[in-house]
Amino acid sequence: MREYDFIVVGTGISGLSFALKAATNGKVAVLTKRSPEMSNTAWAQGGISCVADPGDSFDAHIADTMDAGAGLCEASVVDTIIRSAPEAIEEMTKQGVNFDREENGSFSLGREGGHTQRRVLHARDTTGREISSKLLLAAGREKNIDILENHFAIDLVTTAKLGLKEEENRIVGLYALDEASGRIITFHSERIILCTGGCGRVYLYTTNPKVATGDGVAMAYRAGASVANMEFIQFHPTCLYHHELKNFLISEAVRGEGGVLIGKDGKEFMSGYDPRGSLAPRDIVAQAIDHEIKRTGGPCVYVDIAHRGKSYIQERFPNIYETCLSVGIDAAKEPIPVVPAAHYQCGGIKTSIDGATSITGLYAVGEVACTGLHGANRLASNSLLEGAVVAARCFEHATRQLNPAHKAKNYNIPDWISGNAEDVDELVVIYHNWDEIRRLMWDYVSIVRTDKRLKRAATRLQNLRREVQEFYWNFKICPELLELRNLVETASLIVKCAQRRQESRGLHYTLDFPKSNAASPPQDTLLKRETSGE
Ligand code: SIN
Repeated sequence: MREYDFIVVGTGISGLSFALKAATNGKVAVLTKRSPEMSNTAWAQGGISCVADPGDSFDAHIADTMDAGAGLCEASVVDTIIRSAPEAIEEMTKQGVNFDREENGSFSLGREGGHTQRRVLHARDTTGREISSKLLLAAGREKNIDILENHFAIDLVTTAKLGLKEEENRIVGLYALDEASGRIITFHSERIILCTGGCGRVYLYTTNPKVATGDGVAMAYRAGASVANMEFIQFHPTCLYHHELKNFLISEAVRGEGGVLIGKDGKEFMSGYDPRGSLAPRDIVAQAIDHEIKRTGGPCVYVDIAHRGKSYIQERFPNIYETCLSVGIDAAKEPIPVVPAAHYQCGGIKTSIDGATSITGLYAVGEVACTGLHGANRLASNSLLEGAVVAARCFEHATRQLNPAHKAKNYNIPDWISGNAEDVDELVVIYHNWDEIRRLMWDYVSIVRTDKRLKRAATRLQNLRREVQEFYWNFKICPELLELRNLVETASLIVKCAQRRQESRGLHYTLDFPKSNAASPPQDTLLKRETSGE
């Protein structure tokens, strides 16, 4: 049994920003199921949005965010997060993060879809790597932070799970698999912050790293926390289409700097869908590409940036240029083949703007959470911003809320019981189910949906859930099994939310209800498990 003042799960911008603040106040464990460098943050290319140009305004950034969010953003949350951006950037700069600057010292500002102004701070085209590496260095210097790698958080422990009839359901700890020893460790804490990122791996094609398996949402839902708006999965319009490199993103910033989407006939097509052309918000561009691919029977469309010339492309997008070149595509000479791929989970664990969930002491920050900032479609580059701002607010809230009468160590959390579980004899059974989930989600629950496809997906997922549950009881816990269990849970939540939303809105587009429901004000899709625990 180990006890910490704060337990953070995840090492992206949200987890590390929180840990760095919390270290001033107590002992912090940061759990990560692989190495700390593996996070969605580290893969972010485009950047972080912040009003920084004298010609721009908070009001304009707020309006762009609300417009992209298709009626579902929470206005007060949008207002607060966007106005807090300069402070968050200053804090990151103090931690050593270097954003690109112009010769006069001002920030170099990129532009992305849905933004009416240039307001995306970046570090070339590897902004996430810059943020992640500098925050990790800062966390490494803190004596109060223990980064525990290869520690996979399995399940949360709440007072309800312990069978205690208290006024409120409170967090008291979690179980985690320590891969090195194979042991399952009980952690005690009355403040647990889930910063586990999203669930792109639920889909066959995604821009997300391998770790994005919906762990936080699945864990919180099992523990009885409310989950919202999981139907809004953002498909990034431009993932590289190449058989060797399946997850490589061609940043929207490429289109922000003049890249144009063209079809296989070489013609620009986006202006036929939206007056903003290649820089329309992502839901519109992804749906248009999906339509073009189906219409022309081509496997992909293309982004053409060659007209900006080799030296510009190499300087502004070194990672994209080199990576494309490594598979034989010279972006300075030819258009880059692209397809849409699952990119960002706009819903998640329902939280306040301070990251507080419906379980006392349990917080969620970043992609895993649904604060109301993104609504039905996230505006590009608003997510790193949300992570940084909400992490800071979360720290204030978590510190204020502490009740010394509720010490987690006073609760008797039983040790994990493995019973007669055996080692998984053949990992193929796990990989087979994993593939099946990802394929069925791609075929039935992606950019264009129908009731019939959703029903098929729900039926298949029900069977898979049953099978995974059997594995879970019969086999010894291993990371592959835990990820499969979380994937099937998260996929089921996406389908359930999609079935409930009987309209098209933002990222949820269904042929059965092609219009938004104008009759009543838009509502979040809320799900909550009635009983906590297994
Ligand atoms: C991109 O660089 O296109 C991704 C930015 C984002 O998803 O916010």
